[in-house]
Amino acid sequence: MASQAEKPKVYKGLEGIYVTETRLSYIDGLHSKLYYVGYPIEALAKNSTYEEVAFLLYFLRLPRKDELDLFKALMAEARELPEDVLNVVKKMASLKAHPMDIVRTAVSYLAAYDPEVGVNTPESNLRKSLRILSKAPSIIAAMYRFSRNLDYIPPRKDLSHVENFLYMLHGKRPTEFETKVMDVIFILHAEHGMNASAFASLVTISTLSDIYSAVVSGIATLKGPLHGGAAEAAYHQFKEIGSPDKVEEWVQKALASKRRVMGMGHRVYKSYDPRAKFMRELDGEIAKIYGGEPKLLYEIAIKLEEVALKEFAEKGRMDIQPNIDYYTPIAYTALGIPPEYFTTIFTASRIVGWTAKAMEYLKDPRLIRPLDLYVGELDKEYVPIDKRG
Ligand code: CMC
Repeated sequence: MASQAEKPKVYKGLEGIYVTETRLSYIDGLHSKLYYVGYPIEALAKNSTYEEVAFLLYFLRLPRKDELDLFKALMAEARELPEDVLNVVKKMASLKAHPMDIVRTAVSYLAAYDPEVGVNTPESNLRKSLRILSKAPSIIAAMYRFSRNLDYIPPRKDLSHVENFLYMLHGKRPTEFETKVMDVIFILHAEHGMNASAFASLVTISTLSDIYSAVVSGIATLKGPLHGGAAEAAYHQFKEIGSPDKVEEWVQKALASKRRVMGMGHRVYKSYDPRAKFMRELDGEIAKIYGGEPKLLYEIAIKLEEVALKEFAEKGRMDIQPNIDYYTPIAYTALGIPPEYFTTIFTASRIVGWTAKAMEYLKDPRLIRPLDLYVGELDKEYVPIDKRG
């Protein structure tokens, strides 16, 4: 064993470690900046659709009009789910399984219906990625409908990716504003550097496993409340507070008992998450248009941000600021999406990031195999079971 002097450094949480090179996204955590393939996130969220951003992440350039039309048609064509997958979703919904567990299982089950599952060529991986990406909203809409004893609404090919998703959820075509809000949510969640779920899916693909398995690893990892599950937790936190005038008291109690403010803080952003900034502005519009619960949540969120940031600043923690999960619950609520579904929508969007990263990694793969530092004893004497005290 290494002596104390030569003890290797353990990078807990792999903080500060680069594991690969990428052209997909860049986070400037000190200056509130996020880029996809060099494009500032704000320009994409304002002007693009999710399909255009998916094309960008897969092909590392924005599409021409004819290319985008073909890409959208291919995605629309792949929305249907096999009957057996629908049955599994229905069964799990009847067992009241968590929506993330249902998506994880359904994506895994879909692999059995993909004739190319074991083929790891770039062309095949792109086709499979598009299939998973296109089917994910159908899985979410199916479980939403089944868990409410409503009929499944089959996908429509004439609608955009997010328009069709909202149609399959609620049975009516969304307004232009609702479609734009959902496009923004999908675009802002599409890709985000070497986060925990991206790393989990990269570890899987680095063993030359398959794209479905990589996505399943990503889903399993995204579920946690320190990662994708934070939006659901932030929603419950706003509900627990109940009204803006209860914020001060709640913050004092929460911080005194070492509770975290959900939707704040980030391993990479040490300034305001630009996605949260974009959502905050959009939420302001939503609150005005919708009133009701979205408006109340918005007012609580704004007040909580003001009070919590003041408290953090007094402790010298100016780096703890809202992240994207802080401001999405307001938009989700306006779109009629219940909290237990928030992370599934993050998932549906992030599949493009996981699969694009997996395909990028497969261009020059290396098995991911770090080390752990053994700190136990060695050469212990084996004592037979009847002689152990
Ligand atoms: N509320 C209160 N204190 C906090 C918070 C917070 N949201 N975030 C960090 N801190 C404090 C806290 O005191 C913690 O100390 P302790 O270990 O004693 O609890 C210390 O800062 C850790 O700071 P850090 O080293 O900067 O944080 P980290 O890199 O280990 O954690 C984080 C980053 C996102 C896990 C953390 O900020 C957190 O738990 N936030 C709440 C959950 C959340 O919003 N997650 C969504 C992340 S963004 C979406 C995504 O990519 O999935």
